[in-house]
Amino acid sequence: METDTVKIAVLASGTGSNFKALVEGDTAPGVVDVLVTDNERAGALQLADELGIQGKYMYPGKFRTRFGKQEEKQWADFLLSRGIQLVCLAGLMRILKGPLLEAFHGRILNIHPSLLPAFPGLDAQGQAFRYGVKVAGCTVHYVDQGTDTGPVVLQRAVPVYESDTRDSLAARILTEEHRIYSEAVKAHCEGRAVYSGVLRQQKE
Ligand code: GRF
Repeated sequence: METDTVKIAVLASGTGSNFKALVEGDTAPGVVDVLVTDNERAGALQLADELGIQGKYMYPGKFRTRFGKQEEKQWADFLLSRGIQLVCLAGLMRILKGPLLEAFHGRILNIHPSLLPAFPGLDAQGQAFRYGVKVAGCTVHYVDQGTDTGPVVLQRAVPVYESDTRDSLAARILTEEHRIYSEAVKAHCEGRAVYSGVLRQQKE
């Protein structure tokens, strides 16, 4: 039986290596349709060009770590009008607050470079390295209003060696990120991963 395609938008602010992994990985029946960025200089835009995927910059508003409310609505409207069914955050340096969460409730995934709930937030690899953990890793989870909270879909552990630096550990984690993101997206698109959380009411 033919399975319907699931149209995916990837939202990224930086290099875009996870975006590339999603384009090149097996996410079927999910297909990456568009890359949207809040950063005109994002490497992900250049990658989109090379990969033959439409790349689009959209103004995120005047804040640094979240969207302006009006701008978040514009992002949501753009994705809805394009028929996007799954949103994958891949290094988007902003917290979603309202319109995007409402428009894509239970249909937003994120990749984070730690074994959540350990080390949420910025520089998770550095946090883990400085803490001295012996096992680190990465997590794909559904997105809710929190920072790196939301139900876990997949995790993968990597060892931390005596000889590691923060950057060598980050590189080992990134290799696994590229693997589990496609696996988790595929699981969602096939209906094997489902978000069962309830969207809490936002305070203004
Ligand atoms: C990755 O480490 C990802 O886990 C985090 O942001 C980074 C993005 O890297 N959310 P890239 O742009 O995909 O290379």
